[in-house]
Amino acid sequence: MTMANAPDPIPQPVLGPLTRAAIFLVVTVKPDAESYAAIRSFCGDIAGLIRAVEFRDIDAGLTCIVGFGSNAWDRLFGRPRPAELHPFREFHAGDRHAIATPSDVLFHIRAGRMDICFELATQIMERIGDAVTVADEVQGFRYFEDRDLIGFVDGTENPRGTLALESALVGEEDAAFAGGSYVLVQKYLHDMKGWNTLSTEAQERIIGRKKLSDIELDDSAKPTSAHSALTVVVENGKEVKILRDNMPFGQPGRGEFGTYFIGYSRTPRITELMLENMFVGRPPGNYDRLLDFSKAVTGGLFFAPSATFLEGAGEEEPAAAAIATPPVVSEPSSTTTVGDTSLGIGSLRGERNE
Ligand code: HEM
Repeated sequence: MTMANAPDPIPQPVLGPLTRAAIFLVVTVKPDAESYAAIRSFCGDIAGLIRAVEFRDIDAGLTCIVGFGSNAWDRLFGRPRPAELHPFREFHAGDRHAIATPSDVLFHIRAGRMDICFELATQIMERIGDAVTVADEVQGFRYFEDRDLIGFVDGTENPRGTLALESALVGEEDAAFAGGSYVLVQKYLHDMKGWNTLSTEAQERIIGRKKLSDIELDDSAKPTSAHSALTVVVENGKEVKILRDNMPFGQPGRGEFGTYFIGYSRTPRITELMLENMFVGRPPGNYDRLLDFSKAVTGGLFFAPSATFLEGAGEEEPAAAAIATPPVVSEPSSTTTVGDTSLGIGSLRGERNE
């Protein structure tokens, strides 16, 4: 997967199994040089910190993936930078808005138990708390039968085995960053009262699967606006996948019911195309009705470099000349979507808020 003669970089545990508990911690780095230096030096130490907490209950399967937003990448590491890293792309249509929110560093902590996730988050904040401002923190839990709070099994069509690896990890196309992964996160809040007024059949048509059995609806019964239709993307005649590990979260006492969406991918283009299909529609206007009952309140795009990169991340500040300006984001050119033979992706430019 990398250049000849170079040892394969070890990925962060992106391909780890779905767990019972997770914490999603998003922080911004304070603008001074010392704060950036503190984060840079923490990169080399995080593996040791995770090992120390993990060893307190090795069976809990604690893992943590660290990702960096586009602007933070430049100030932390300079050049080279991951080829497709850019700020979160917003999508806006009607009253639907995939919003971008401040996000420099993401910690995706997973384990079989919340207490060990909580301990790692505490230790991380102990170490970097003075250098960052917390933008968002969500504790997610696994709900009955891997369902989200709207009652549907979530994660069924995730790629497995080699397909998961090929879908989530950068390969030779960006050899300097092979083994890394682009991570897109969004926190959604659901209007449960509204959702629950729908019949089960209406909900099934929105998701595109049976609620109880989780079986996919027949093509004849599945609307083209179904969530599981709009998120199917075909590139060069082949379906391309992302790796998701959504988690329910909420506070019933406050009427808060949510899904934390997290998608790992080899290229952010694919996840962005799914978002475009959901928010703008395919074709425009044929949008995802799940969004009539779900509002995105955060949005961030990160690059989770390989564990090998993290460990070797220098203590030195990148030279001023090596600090890159974010590359101009080009439109996906060779991507087509199911049911859309027009390749009219460029025609949606006007609805995109970059
Ligand atoms: C409100 C937030 C969301 C909820 C509650 C939700 C829920 C679901 C459910 C229940 C399924 C069907 C079972 C499965 O295959 O996992 C599904 C499928 C899927 N979702 Fe979502 N999802 C959400 C947001 C998103 C977003 C933002 C994306 C991408 C940007 C996405 C991408 C996908 C993909 C790729 C599939 C599989 C489609 C297939 O191959 O059949 N989802 N989602």
